[in-house]
Amino acid sequence: MSSRKKIVAGNWKMNKSLQEAKILAEQITNQVNEFDEVTKIIIPPFPFLETVKQTISNKPNFYIGAQNCHTNSSGAFTGEVSANMLHSVGCEYVLIGHSERRQYFKEKDADFILKIKEALKNNIHPIFCIGETIHERKTDNHFKVITEQLTAVLKEFSVEEFSKFILAYEPVWAIGTGETATSAQAQEMHAFIRSIVTDIFDSSVAANVSILYGGSCNAQNAQELFRCPDVDGGLIGGASLKADDFCKIIFSF
Ligand code: 13P
Repeated sequence: MSSRKKIVAGNWKMNKSLQEAKILAEQITNQVNEFDEVTKIIIPPFPFLETVKQTISNKPNFYIGAQNCHTNSSGAFTGEVSANMLHSVGCEYVLIGHSERRQYFKEKDADFILKIKEALKNNIHPIFCIGETIHERKTDNHFKVITEQLTAVLKEFSVEEFSKFILAYEPVWAIGTGETATSAQAQEMHAFIRSIVTDIFDSSVAANVSILYGGSCNAQNAQELFRCPDVDGGLIGGASLKADDFCKIIFSF
């Protein structure tokens, strides 16, 4: 038996005002009943973390996550936010390696390793994101790219450290495009990711890591995706900005 959790995480990216963030968090928590077994992670922009944390504070199985953290714990890094700052506002998860960080901010494997080390030092679970571009898929390089993205980072961590990870498969061609991976494509890649984790660690480690799917996952397609045996939930962008849609996704298991 694996100990995999069912997880739905909402990555709000760079959206909403403080007032809108509070309303959205309230609308979400009001719709989800107390006994829901799904782990729900809300990932707002930094300035709204504390407010969202307060809004979810009495709701079981709700957590806040951050969209990024710096490679250092403190110092002269104007404009940056460290993992220990995130911990101090009650943050329990952080996205690392999101394709937008890779693409727009030129973050590389070496950055992800340092950031994950900082997160773990501060008791924050890294949600490590991987995914291939459309060119990489069309040229049949998607398995190779995913293997490289995973291996470069995971080999720097022990089994104990890796037990704190969540993985997220987000094909870049599906992010914000409305073009979701089919459930067959998602299942195929998630099973492949588990086989790579088996190669790096072992099969029981692989059986226990939650792997989320992200990329145009919405209220209409979540159920089919979540039915796949190796898909443990979703990392939701656009559809996490509307309470009704996000809650429908939570209820899709
Ligand atoms: P969309 O759901 O908007 O495609 O975004 C997915 C994503 O990038 C979540 O991190």
